[in-house]
Amino acid sequence: MADSRETHLEGRVSVITGASSGIGAAAARALATRGARVVLAARNADKLDTLVTEIRDAGGTATASVTDVTRLDDVEGLIDFAVGAYGPVDHLVNNAGLMLFSKWSDGAVDDWDKMIDTNLRGYLHAISAVLPDMIARRSGHILNLSPVAGIRVGHASGVHSATKFFIRGITDSLRQEVGITHGIQVSMISPGFIDTGWVERSPTPRASRSPRTSTRARSTRIGWPTPSSTPSTSPPRSPSTTSSSTPPARSGNPTPAP
Ligand SMILES: NC(=O)c1ccc[n+]([C@@H]2O[C@H](COP(=O)([O-])OP(=O)(O)OC[C@H]3O[C@@H](n4cnc5c(N)ncnc54)[C@H](OP(=O)(O)O)[C@@H]3O)[C@@H](O)[C@H]2O)c1
Repeated sequence: MADSRETHLEGRVSVITGASSGIGAAAARALATRGARVVLAARNADKLDTLVTEIRDAGGTATASVTDVTRLDDVEGLIDFAVGAYGPVDHLVNNAGLMLFSKWSDGAVDDWDKMIDTNLRGYLHAISAVLPDMIARRSGHILNLSPVAGIRVGHASGVHSATKFFIRGITDSLRQEVGITHGIQVSMISPGFIDTGWVERSPTPRASRSPRTSTRARSTRIGWPTPSSTPSTSPPRSPSTTSSSTPPARSGNPTPAP
């Protein structure tokens, strides 16, 4: 007999941000395997297209829209695209995120801004884009990803952690406000470390290049691995399945990744 946990996903429309890699890509595969129709969003069109093909080849239903979650119009375009493709959105997996390490003394304002734009504004943009229709239909599920850094602050993780505390705050507030009275499910998952490759993609923070203060040494103390190479940022623009390329490598200060 079919497991009700599986059948309740059949035909559901799931939008997953940050679906070009890591947790988002894994979530997309898992949801599609269980019958959901998945709409993948991220900036890297090539990776999205590859995953769409993989899911379709495996018998699933998937499409993708190149989206920069820091741009409200992109995210609204994504939701319009999802509704046009498959119908009203049942699930939002709010996952696209950046983790950039730095110490306060680094003054890495550019990285703080990137995390605020992605981890705060990106989540808010997605919520604002799906919520009116979910409220109108008294149905839907908003799932926010936020790591344990949103519960406990780690070394060199001040602003990163703060953005994740923010996600915890909005999740609680949403749950209280629309979860009970409007029939919308609001959840948060707080994984510990998951090796999605972000360590390899992350450069060593500028202030920690000496052996004594290396990120590895500091990370060991907080239980995080060592970032070590340069990330990708930078955004294609409007929603489309074809129009974007891999973001260029970022140079400069600290550490990117998940
Ligand atoms: N890995 C862990 O240990 C861990 C643990 C707990 C929670 N988390 C959280 O889980 C989420 C995913 O982590 P991950 O490890 O899977 O990282 P990842 O592999 O680096 O994935 C991050 C995803 O976010 C997307 N993204 C980044 N900026 C974006 C933007 N402006 N617009 C749209 N998409 C954007 C990236 O795609 P593009 O570059 O193609 O845009 C990518 O698909 C993050 O929020 C992270 O904080 C991670």
